This record gives sequence, structure tokens and C-alpha cells, in this order.
Amino acid sequence: MSKLLCGDAVECLKTLPAESVNMCVTSPPYYGLRDYGESDQIGIEASPREYIERLAAVFDEVQRVLAKDGTLWLNIGDSYAGSGKGPMSLALAGNGKNKNLYNKESRIYEVPKTWEGIKPKDMIGIPWMLAFALRDRGWYLRSDIIWHKTNCLPESIKDRPTKSYEHIFLLAKSPHYYYDYMAIREPLKDVSAERYRRGRSATNKYADKQGISSAHEDFSDFDQQFRRKRDVWEVSTNSYKMDEHFAMFPERLIEPCILAGSKIGGVVLDPFFGSGTTGAVAKRLGRSYIGIDLNAHYLEKAQERIDRIVPKIKTADTAGSGLK
Ligand SMILES: C[S@@+](CC[C@H](N)C(=O)[O-])C[C@H]1O[C@@H](n2cnc3c(N)ncnc32)[C@H](O)[C@@H]1O
Repeated sequence: MSKLLCGDAVECLKTLPAESVNMCVTSPPYYGLRDYGESDQIGIEASPREYIERLAAVFDEVQRVLAKDGTLWLNIGDSYAGSGKGPMSLALAGNGKNKNLYNKESRIYEVPKTWEGIKPKDMIGIPWMLAFALRDRGWYLRSDIIWHKTNCLPESIKDRPTKSYEHIFLLAKSPHYYYDYMAIREPLKDVSAERYRRGRSATNKYADKQGISSAHEDFSDFDQQFRRKRDVWEVSTNSYKMDEHFAMFPERLIEPCILAGSKIGGVVLDPFFGSGTTGAVAKRLGRSYIGIDLNAHYLEKAQERIDRIVPKIKTADTAGSGLK
């Protein structure tokens, strides 16, 4: 049964039974980038290490509630160490929560200029810090999918290339896990299909050597017109706009995650639900969802969004859900 829970991710996850969800797809708040206006929010910690520790605690609970064959699809972007002033320090100040960061003389919030060897201007490397922390805690790190943003925002920066990608790590609870590669296979490009057809023809001089001679096999066989999904995904940034919410992931980005990671009727978890993209896609694809967010207003808006979705595949549960 689908449901939304309002509160801190760790606390809400603790209320869910062990092994009760099939997969998790989520994008946690980035480090030092946005102020979601809640005192318990993640992303405003005083150092990257504290931020990673808080996220790791959330994913410990996700691991507990995941089915043994469950997967986690984790979208995460990087941050740059700032000058100690400016928007990053404001976000890190967390509405005045980190009072020790407030400099009374300059009347600005100042974050440390270096953290554990990270200098101002350095890329912090948050995605890999998190991936390695989760691997250390028992997750199987299976893929680093690159989300190539085909319409990324221009940057005014003049001393490095414009950032145009984020990571989606595929992590599994067990070495063998549910992954429906057929559900997300891609059609072969015409030129590749032609090459493949030539390669398998009886007249191909290399075919026997390569052990792929199969002149009797019928190329028109459905499966042979597809290839396995690759790990660079080209998806433009969001089409859906919700006034108050920032950093929504596009529906097209998480469709393959949900299709490969769960069966129809399965349960999809998102502990950082935001505008409810995970719920919207899960419902459209005939899955149930559990969404968690600190911000009650986001959840109300998310529920309205999901209520408007007409499932492509109807199951007993996609009829409705309720904010708990
Ligand atoms: C990057 S946004 C998620 C966006 C979402 N993927 C979407 O498509 O709308 C991160 C969300 O995490 C929520 N959040 C921040 N700290 C949290 C915490 N401790 N527990 C639960 N949610 C939290 C924020 O309110 C925000 O909605």
C-alpha cells in the first residue's frame, strides 16, 4: 500500500518493517547547496564528513527495509569547496542552526576554509565519498551510471569545463539481486543492426573463427534487435515544475531504475521524496511507493501531483494512497 511519511528520514524509516520494500530510488539534498528551511535537514552539516555520516545512517536503515534481493539507485551530485563566504556558507549556516559559523564582526556565516585537506575551489568528491562509505557498510557497489544532462545550465566560471553530469549509483543489498535487464534494453541503432546481421551471416569469413556462426538463427528474433542498457544516460533536466521545490529529478531519469529494479505491484521507496517524482513514476508504472520528507508542504504538493497520475498499468494498490 502506498503511503507518505513526514519527518526525518532515519526516524521514519525506523517505523517500517525489515525487508518490506523492493527497491529504493532517491536523490538526497546536495551538500551546502540549498536551504530547505527545516531544522533537521540534511546538507547543512559543518563538514563533508559529517554530511556523509548522516547520509550513511539513512542508507543503513534503507538497507534494513530492503528485500534481500533489493537495490538502491542513488542520484548524487558534487559540490565545490567555497571561499568560506557566499551562498554555500549561508546554506551551511542552516537558518542560524550552526551558530558557531556566524562571524559577528563581518556579520556573515563563515564555513571552514579547508576540511580534512579539501581547499577552497576543490571539487569535494561527494559522490565517491558516499559510494565508498556505503560499500564499507556492506552494500555491493554495482554501477556508476552517468546522467548526462543534455540541457545543463550554463556556468559563468572561466577556469574549468561546465558541469553537465551527475551520478546514479546502483547498489545492491546482496551479491545476487533483482535486475530486469530485459525491461530496460535499448533498440540497436540501424547501423549496429546491419553490422550484427552481416556478422552472423553464413558468408562472413570471421564468423566461424569468432564462434558466432549462426546462419540458421533468425536475426528477426525479437531479442536480437536490442542491446543491454548502457551506463551513460542522456536525459534533459526537468520538464515538471513545482513552484517551491528545487532539484527534482526528471521522470525519464528514474523510469529505467524502477522498471529494472521492481516488478509490477512492487514497492518503491524514496526517503527524500521532495516533489514526489518517485511516487508519480511508480504509480504510472503500476508499482506502490513509500515517500518520506521532512517538509509537510512538499508532501501535500507531491500527493496532489501523484493523484493526477493515471497508471499505465493498473494494480489493486494504484487506486489511492494517504498522507500519514
Ligand atoms: C533533492 S530533494 C529531492 C527531490 C526529489 N527527488 C524530487 O524529484 O522532487 C531533497 C529532499 O530531501 C528533503 N530532506 C532534507 N533533509 C531531510 C531529512 N533529514 N529527512 C527527510 N527528508 C529530508 C528536502 O526537504 C527535499 O525535499
